Order: sequence, then C-alpha cells, then structure tokens
Amino acid sequence: MHVISFEGFEYSGKSTQIALLKKYFSKQKIVSTFTREPGGNKDLEKIRKIILQSDFDNLSLILFFFASRFSLLSTLNSNGIVVFDRFFDSTYAYQNYTSRDRELILNLIKQVHKKYIPRLTFYFKMNKKTLLERKNKRGAQNKFDKKYLGEFSRIQKNYNDLSKIKINKRIFITIDASQSKELIHQEIIENLKKWKLIK
Ligand code: TMP
Repeated sequence: MHVISFEGFEYSGKSTQIALLKKYFSKQKIVSTFTREPGGNKDLEKIRKIILQSDFDNLSLILFFFASRFSLLSTLNSNGIVVFDRFFDSTYAYQNYTSRDRELILNLIKQVHKKYIPRLTFYFKMNKKTLLERKNKRGAQNKFDKKYLGEFSRIQKNYNDLSKIKINKRIFITIDASQSKELIHQEIIENLKKWKLIK
C-alpha cells in the first residue's frame, strides 16, 4: 500500500486534481482507493456533517478530526494507492493557532502508524488574489469554509511550515495552484513516476 495526500485551501483546485487522478488510475488500471477527511466511510460521513456544521471550540476540533482520522485508518485496507483528500496536515494548517495546539497536533501525528504516513503530499499553494477571484466566480461556501476564509494567511503559513517538517520519509510537494489544471495533472503524474509509485 502507498499513501498519498492532497492538501490546500478552498478553491485551490484540489478536488479537480483528485478527479483527474481518479480517471487516470482507472484508465491505467492502477489499483487505488480514494478517501476524504473528515469522512471517508458511511459512519464518518455523518460525523463530517456534524463537524462542518458546528461551532466547536478549537481544542475539541483537533480531537474530533483526529478521532475521525484514527477511526478511518482502522478500517483502511488496500493493496494499491490510497489517495487522501486532506489528512493530518489539514489539522496542522487549520487548527494550529498556538504553540500548545502545535505540540498537541504533532504528538497526535506521531500516533499515526508509519504505514499510513503519505509517501507524497501534494500541497496546492495559491495566492490571495487567485483565491478571491475563484471565490467570486464560484460563490456559495459552507459555514466552516467561511470561518476560515479570513484566516488564509495563518493557514498558508502553517502549510509552508509543514514543507519543512520531516515526517518519516514523506515528501511534501508544493504545487503552484495558479497553473492550468492540465499542467498540474502532468506534474502530479510525473512525481508519482519519479518516486516510483507508478510506472
Ligand atoms: P473539504 O471541503 O476540502 O472537504 O474540507 C472540509 C473543511 O474541513 C475545510 O474547511 C477544511 C476543514 N478541515 C479542517 O479544518 N481540519 C482538518 O483536519 C480537516 C481534515 C479538514
């Protein structure tokens, strides 16, 4: 099993790229499982709804996200490539306000078994201008996304920090999200080949 993850702020194009990769894997007959967080299975999707519609305090959110995560991992069973639409980096990026939050999140990440640590993480980095253009074009957001919209700089900084934090053998790849979707898709496939996750 190889794990890879996709990370980024709302409107970064993450979902489009995951859809393109799914198509590619199916065309190439590459065994894969696609999952997302929060959620990822029938029961956890119910929890996703509750979390994303809630007004929980930050410490509770950290624990909810990790509880949901450990539960998902305990049911994960795949021979191929497992693709995560968000993983522990999202908690580090979004719920990390203070050094106490940071310590707690890093300690919880240490509890993730090494077989689930992504080999590659693709982070879609976007500037605020692109974010606002895409937001104005696409409109409606859920309550949770709205809450974090005003915290773009903090979240971006946390993602940047992650590129410098070594977590097992994982390689953190920062992608310029303002490029065309075709170019980004190509970059992802090239990296999967380069790191020998696919031929
Ligand atoms: P999504 O729309 O990309 O599925 O993400 C759902 C929201 O959940 C998004 O606003 C980011 C947020 N989130 C966190 O704040 N912390 C986490 O650990 C995860 C997995 C998601």
